[in-house]
Amino acid sequence: MVIARHYLRLGDRSPPEYRALFSRAAELKRRRRARLLDTSLAGRTLVVLMEKASTRTRLSFAAAIGQLGGHFVELSAASSQLARGEPLADTARIVSGYADAVVFRTSTDGRLREYAAASSIPVINGLTELGHPVQVLTDLFTVEEALGSVAGRTITFTGDCAGNMALSFLEAAPLFDFRLRLAAPPGFLPPAAVVKAAGAHVTLVEDPREAVRGADVVATDVWSSMGQEDEAEERREALRGYTVDDGLLTGAAASAIVLHCLPAHRDEEITDAVMMGPQSRIWEEAENRMHVQKALLEQLILC
Ligand code: CP
Ligand code: NVA
Repeated sequence: MVIARHYLRLGDRSPPEYRALFSRAAELKRRRRARLLDTSLAGRTLVVLMEKASTRTRLSFAAAIGQLGGHFVELSAASSQLARGEPLADTARIVSGYADAVVFRTSTDGRLREYAAASSIPVINGLTELGHPVQVLTDLFTVEEALGSVAGRTITFTGDCAGNMALSFLEAAPLFDFRLRLAAPPGFLPPAAVVKAAGAHVTLVEDPREAVRGADVVATDVWSSMGQEDEAEERREALRGYTVDDGLLTGAAASAIVLHCLPAHRDEEITDAVMMGPQSRIWEEAENRMHVQKALLEQLILC
């Protein structure tokens, strides 16, 4: 079996590959703005397999492959033979025969790895409980668009710092050489070993005001991720005080930008005023998913 190069975590690409990817994503974005057509992935097929809800990941990958001349097939767990017990590895072998790459969103990292181990085409992590690499990659591209190089910048992430978004920011910090401040109460922090792996790039700060002081970027995510709905009330109670609102933002750098991967729960982790305010780059961030993923698909499929 051919060994495919997957994109399961941020560490699966090197800093020089990321430089090339960001530069190509910017070029593809300019070309899209100029209404130029691209055909770099003509004749290629992308399968998106969703075992959890999605708006942006599904649509941005569909648009990305379509605008590069390829096509998109969505497979949901419920409507495929997976629901009737066909093994995941068999599904991966079959998809490998038809398609050129696959995006898989699933509940556990173990299940993603099980799929990847049987796939002879590149597998892209579309989100698990342990990370959301394509989203954080896009977030860093969005930071560079707004502020220039992310290296040496301070990104503050407030709220659920044990969730997939915070975990991917943690992995990204040493790779992209930025400082990450995680603002969360006890019980909402990543495992100590994961924090240790990020070394001096990460600081844990319980007080959100102290964590955003002078920050270049303030990022957050929902307090209850998909699958944690039953804990929503107690999580809301524990994370009260970590909302990104205008008051909190006054402590950040005057040029600071605000990011949120979406979907958002307004007036929990972020206010509507901040989402719609002048420092928000949330809507560009969502659009950039498509541009960045186009460049990623080219790297994975053509290289
Ligand atoms: N940010 C993100 O991945 O959104 P979806 O859950 O809508 O795909
Ligand atoms: N942490 C969120 C991200 C959604 C894109 C979740 O896992 O539901």
